[in-house]
Amino acid sequence: MTGLNRNPLRVLSISGSLRRGSFNTALLKAAQELAPEGMEITIFDLKDIPLYNADVEAEGDPEAVTALKKAVHGADALLLATPEYNGGIPAPLKNAIDWASRSPSGYQESAIFGKTVAIMGGGGGGAVRAQTQLRQVLSALGIEALEQPEVKVAMVWDKFDEKGHLIDHKTREQINELLHALEERLTHEDAPAEVLAA
Ligand SMILES: Cc1cc2nc3c(=O)[nH]c(=O)nc-3n(C[C@H](O)[C@H](O)[C@H](O)COP(=O)(O)O)c2cc1C
Repeated sequence: MTGLNRNPLRVLSISGSLRRGSFNTALLKAAQELAPEGMEITIFDLKDIPLYNADVEAEGDPEAVTALKKAVHGADALLLATPEYNGGIPAPLKNAIDWASRSPSGYQESAIFGKTVAIMGGGGGGAVRAQTQLRQVLSALGIEALEQPEVKVAMVWDKFDEKGHLIDHKTREQINELLHALEERLTHEDAPAEVLAA
């Protein structure tokens, strides 16, 4: 068995925050900068994704949803950065996962099912509860998000300079390790079956 042997490895990253000055989006920008050679990280903006509504879906996916599904489908892996809102996953991120889990042939044929996923999060306490919830939601879609390293960025607003550049050494190191773990998961011979079949 061999893992993916594609260059570049295509990683689609999604922030659970819609705001322009989001620290979670800034974590993804730092990940783009820290990506190992041969890994390409793009950021998908959720701002145009409507709330999931089966009536809307029945009339055909809105353009932004089609773009989301296409981007998820075409990615070798996802990198999700989540804030924590009132102890849980922010609505935009859960909503995007819900749309991406939809397929006329059933959720197991959806864009997101069985995807390789790495997660991280920033907030006052590192978005720990949101990340735990996110793992649980992903497990319903046949996804075991990377366990280690955990990237829980507490007091996230203190980790960037005024230009939004990640200056905290420990956080940069953790993101670097997470990306290497993701690369390992994608390319290692023990990569999960869904990756090998991709
Ligand atoms: C509705 C709401 C609820 C929040 N609840 C939490 C929370 O439960 N835990 C926490 O650490 N921060 C909480 N925060 C603060 C966010 O972590 C903080 O605003 C963070 O910067 C948001 O991420 P962003 O910078 O990527 O937008 C909350 C913020 C909002 C707007």
